[in-house]
Amino acid sequence: MSSNPTPDGILQLGLAFWGSKTLLTAVEMGLFTSLAKGPKDLAALKKEFNLHDRSAKDFLDALVALGMLQRSGEQYSNTPESDLFLDRNKPSYTGGILEMANKRLYPFWDSLGEALRTGKAQNEASRGGEDFFGTLYSNPQTLKLFLKSMTGLSMGAAQAIAAKFPWKNYKSFVDVGTAQGGLPVTVALAHPHLTGGGYDLPVVKPIFEEYVASFKLSDRVKFHGGSFLTDPLPKADVIVMGHILHDWNLEEKKMLIAKAYDALPSGGALVVFEAIIDDDRSKNAFGLLMSLNMLIETPGGFDYTGADGCKWMKEAGFKETRVEHLLGPDSMVVGIK
Ligand SMILES: C[S@@+](CC[C@H](N)C(=O)[O-])C[C@H]1O[C@@H](n2cnc3c(N)ncnc32)[C@H](O)[C@@H]1O
Repeated sequence: MSSNPTPDGILQLGLAFWGSKTLLTAVEMGLFTSLAKGPKDLAALKKEFNLHDRSAKDFLDALVALGMLQRSGEQYSNTPESDLFLDRNKPSYTGGILEMANKRLYPFWDSLGEALRTGKAQNEASRGGEDFFGTLYSNPQTLKLFLKSMTGLSMGAAQAIAAKFPWKNYKSFVDVGTAQGGLPVTVALAHPHLTGGGYDLPVVKPIFEEYVASFKLSDRVKFHGGSFLTDPLPKADVIVMGHILHDWNLEEKKMLIAKAYDALPSGGALVVFEAIIDDDRSKNAFGLLMSLNMLIETPGGFDYTGADGCKWMKEAGFKETRVEHLLGPDSMVVGIK
């Protein structure tokens, strides 16, 4: 094996936006939703999506080479993954977050250099528009799409938390910033002895309740409305926060941890999960890039290491803390009061 350096890795990464934008555009067009109905050939897809002669074959074959489509003879079809996660008609659809990334984040990341120099967000809010949640939640359709996409995005982590956390030691839990309620439903289904809830802004209530009812869990999983910036948190044996702390600055993070501490009984647990950065800050690239995304999206948010999370929990009074890997880039930080 030659040890001569080559530019391959640099070029792959530097031009990774080619592949990314190709996938995001296919999601936006609804290509995977269409192919979920059955395989189609080039002529049919050209007509359906109004693709130019010059672009169609390269676009579709690039998606084959990128592992997002399959081609057999003349027929294009979804892969098992693109069929499950990128068909808008399936409850497992996770393309909502990619649609949001294509529409909003892709142009905003063009201003990364500006964000790096000024430390200022580069989204709608920085351009005189509403903030992130204000923009999303002012439109019922984007609200629902966003809350649903959170379920898909966090489902793997929620299943890992349901399996790894010692739920048998507790009776009740509340998921703070619950979105559609993916985590409470997953945990309640796995542990019938628990009663649970989801806490979020009041506008989320009907979407949460519809989702919970579809699993026949309405008697065990309730919605609590409020704002965690101004209100106390509901009391429970376990409080979960998924992808919450990274949205906020250090003072706000500590305020949320302190509110969780106040709402827990002695022996109760706070479970915080997201793309927790490794303590050496050299391996979890997704977590580090997520933190840059928080720079683009929020006035003061950032991602953090497991050691940071444990330190803040100890400062808030938690007796014991630990970090446990969940799956992929996600870990949980657990604090016991
Ligand atoms: C990034 S999402 C995380 C959703 C879910 N926990 C997950 O991990 O998939 C952030 C959630 O925080 C909620 N949220 C934002 N500001 C809030 C506030 N002031 N009070 C309560 N919830 C809030 C949002 O509505 C949204 O559901």
